[in-house]
Amino acid sequence: MVETRTLEPASGPFQAGVHIPGDKSLSHRALVFAALADDESEITGLAPGRDVAATCSALERLGLRRDGYRFVPVEVPADPGGPIDCGNSGTTMRLLSGGLAGAPFRVTLTGDESLSSRPMGRLVRPLGALGVEVSLSEGGTAPIVTGDADIHAADVVIDVASAQVRSAFELAAVQADGASTIDGPGGFRDHTERWLVAFGLAESDGTRTRITPGPIPGAQYKLPGDPSSAAYVWTSAALIPGARVVTPDVSLNPGRLGFLGILEAMGAEVHGEVTGSLHGDPVGTVSVTGAHLGSVEVSGDTVAAAIDELPLVAVLGAYGEGVTIVRDAAELKVKESDRTRSTAAMIRSLGGGAEATEDGFEVLGAGFLDGGSVDAAGDHRIAMAGAVAATAAQGAVTIIGASIAGVSWPSFYETLEAMWSSQ
Ligand code: S3P
Repeated sequence: MVETRTLEPASGPFQAGVHIPGDKSLSHRALVFAALADDESEITGLAPGRDVAATCSALERLGLRRDGYRFVPVEVPADPGGPIDCGNSGTTMRLLSGGLAGAPFRVTLTGDESLSSRPMGRLVRPLGALGVEVSLSEGGTAPIVTGDADIHAADVVIDVASAQVRSAFELAAVQADGASTIDGPGGFRDHTERWLVAFGLAESDGTRTRITPGPIPGAQYKLPGDPSSAAYVWTSAALIPGARVVTPDVSLNPGRLGFLGILEAMGAEVHGEVTGSLHGDPVGTVSVTGAHLGSVEVSGDTVAAAIDELPLVAVLGAYGEGVTIVRDAAELKVKESDRTRSTAAMIRSLGGGAEATEDGFEVLGAGFLDGGSVDAAGDHRIAMAGAVAATAAQGAVTIIGASIAGVSWPSFYETLEAMWSSQ
């Protein structure tokens, strides 16, 4: 039986402070850094969902030892003796393809049906330049095989603004025999680069990164909240004029800020303040207040800096006035679902007007949505965006396949409903 979750619209302009769970991108990276380090690390605030659990258990099988918040690095990687299951998590698979490149054996990485259809071929050339042979299935997908490489220095230029591909290269390059460089299009989240710079293992000008091999030090990682999760509660507040939400302690990495600019361009009131940093990566507080919404066009570098939030742009667009257009976003087609289609389908099933295009989608702003049933399409971000669309809908919204939200935020629906009843 397919499970569902029904959300009744919020009753009015709520006022809330919401604690956002730990950042997923930083959690994957903290675990891989801790595994490759030359000393113990301490990680607090790890993201709670199934994606990060997949990275953690993969690394534990290879020898990472965890005792509460303390992580003892892998000294000599243990052969897992069989495939490692990355579940639904593209970040797990891509980061491990580079992080495990120096292991003294070949490792097979598998994933669920969705992950097994996502493109892994983009890893082959950059990692191949370092001497890392990544074998793929026919069609350039998982299962993939990595490891047992003699990693040598290389300079590469990539053509996709992918933080995951860059991180895979960089995590292998720290294990190389000399300095390597990677360059490519901007707008991506540069978490890996900032931490490597802070640890004296890289120099970066934002797009070109030079990695010097060396041991990653053991470190303390007090992980901030995930702005891609916060985006759901920000959007919910934006849909009701006068509703307000404050989210302290979230990552404010520039490659994660595209959506805040979009919220502002739509007409919401947005305040962001940097209050600190984690190894050179900014952290701060964001508040969003709802207002009358217009429309927006999203293209170019903003796409990479808002890639995971684009389904929410469609929700904002449906509640706004005018036509909202997302273009230059063909990358949406290879996320956990084809999000050009699943996003447009979500809006249509709630009574709005939306079409997928070749490289994005278009949404007709009618100023309201009726409510109805949304098929999550096995994609956590569609399930959660559909739930957010319930905020100001005329009727209830039912999410079909709702539990996929547990990939990134298991208690999401409860948090959303609690926020709607805060005054
Ligand atoms: C991520 C990078 C992005 C993003 C994904 C997480 C990361 O993917 O969509 O959810 O942690 O590096 P790409 O790097 O493939 O664009």
